[in-house]
Amino acid sequence: MQYFVTSDALASQQTDCLAVAIYDQAELSPSAAQLDEDTQGAIQRVLDTGDISGKAGQTLFLHHPAGISSPRILLVGVGKKGKTTENDFNTATTAMAQALNESGAQAALCCLAEVEVMQRSNAWKIRQTTVNTETTLYRYTQTKSDNKPIEKPLTQLRFTTDEADTAAAGQAIAQGAAIGRGMNLAKDLGNLPGNICTPSYLADQAIKIGQQFDSVTTTILEEAEMAELGMGSLLSVSRGSRQPAKLITMEYKGAGDSKPVVLVGKGLTFDAGGISLKPAQGMDEMKYDMCGSASVFGTIQAVAELGLPINVVGVVPSSENMPDGDANKPGDIVTSMAGKTIEILNTDAEGRLILCDALTYSERFEPDTVIDIATLTGAIIVALGNVTTGLMANNQDLADALLKAGNDSFDRTWQLPIWDDYQKQLDSNFADIANVGGKEAGSVTAACFLSRFTEKFNWAHLDIAGTAWVSGKAKGATGRPVPLLMQFLLNKIESKS
Ligand code: BES
Ligand code: MN
Ligand code: ZN
Repeated sequence: MQYFVTSDALASQQTDCLAVAIYDQAELSPSAAQLDEDTQGAIQRVLDTGDISGKAGQTLFLHHPAGISSPRILLVGVGKKGKTTENDFNTATTAMAQALNESGAQAALCCLAEVEVMQRSNAWKIRQTTVNTETTLYRYTQTKSDNKPIEKPLTQLRFTTDEADTAAAGQAIAQGAAIGRGMNLAKDLGNLPGNICTPSYLADQAIKIGQQFDSVTTTILEEAEMAELGMGSLLSVSRGSRQPAKLITMEYKGAGDSKPVVLVGKGLTFDAGGISLKPAQGMDEMKYDMCGSASVFGTIQAVAELGLPINVVGVVPSSENMPDGDANKPGDIVTSMAGKTIEILNTDAEGRLILCDALTYSERFEPDTVIDIATLTGAIIVALGNVTTGLMANNQDLADALLKAGNDSFDRTWQLPIWDDYQKQLDSNFADIANVGGKEAGSVTAACFLSRFTEKFNWAHLDIAGTAWVSGKAKGATGRPVPLLMQFLLNKIESKS
């Protein structure tokens, strides 16, 4: 897909389709009114038929309207005038991209950014439309044999904008395309089954990214090297699997010697629970337990594509969690890289066991900030559903920056406390710390566990178990929280300049 901006007049546009907004109760947006005039009332006549009311996400094509050079107009419902929400706008632009892609129009002009959306800027709306177009056109193809490509897919989207806004709009499409492609990479990795997307597969993907961008250096640690570093906790999880664990590092350099943001992504390529085996129902979805790492891959790719002036390190501990004769048993005690002993009361709480060693490993990058991203607890789905990512942090400025980035990108987070009141739930009679804290506040005690390994740096934890994929008929990875992470980095760059 290619994206452009233009400040030329509507009627003169040479394109396959003009997409314009219709407000609820069949009200014309400014561009729709302009086109209505250019076509001697063609749009109003269609509205009068009642075929489109303007509800967010409705679409209707007009073919060969007289008076303009474009062979098509696409009317797109955006909700009540002046009341279009971010969700309405996302619904509308997603429907627009879908309709265009399924039509014969390959090049289109989008006039939807003129719609007022909760005080969002023109650049925000253009960027969001680009992200939504990119992710709407995503198709999972890798393990399907009947991939008939769409005959005339959408290949070019142009945005109308005021002359004065073209620079900001240009930046918006560049960022939106990079974020969208990063999300699509994250979706692809998430959607791949556990028998293909293994720790070794993820390591190969990281090597590819390193080859693709001069700015990215990838290193892979094998189990023997992890053993030398004393990563007894991480290795105890992979001992239960035939697949060797990998510790993947992708270092992006865009800002000399400045301290990096380290993103640590849980790369559990299949979580059967181990000896504390999960129930069969829905267990296939545990192939998504590497979505934290997928978001790190997507973010590193997007950062490198944009050449952002910042240093970012992606650290991905990757393993399977399987039941095996050599797997962890409830009651086993292991020693982490930090030297702390851990009593494994439930082998299904494996994410924290691989993350704690990866977090300790992150110290060597002398980080400015460490953010881990993990499908860590079912409890976060109970608390927040699939709308918002759980956020916990040992530094409130960092938490505030992530909350803001969530609002800015509309890939939102909500903070939960990790006060020391909760820490005692992790007391163990036999080790320094237990790996589970009982059934109360499960997401909080999981973060409390990680906090014992992050005392040396500013750290935040994103629990994406609810937001990384959707279940049901539309089952699939979402590509979240790539937009959140990208926004965090963009805001950080902005605040420094
Ligand atoms: N990968 C799961 C978390 C998860 C559960 C993600 C459901 C998405 C949907 C994690 O490894 C896990 O099993 N967590 C346990 C922790 C418990 C044993 C303390 C959980 O949430 O049940
Ligand atoms: Mn588990
Ligand atoms: Zn897991």
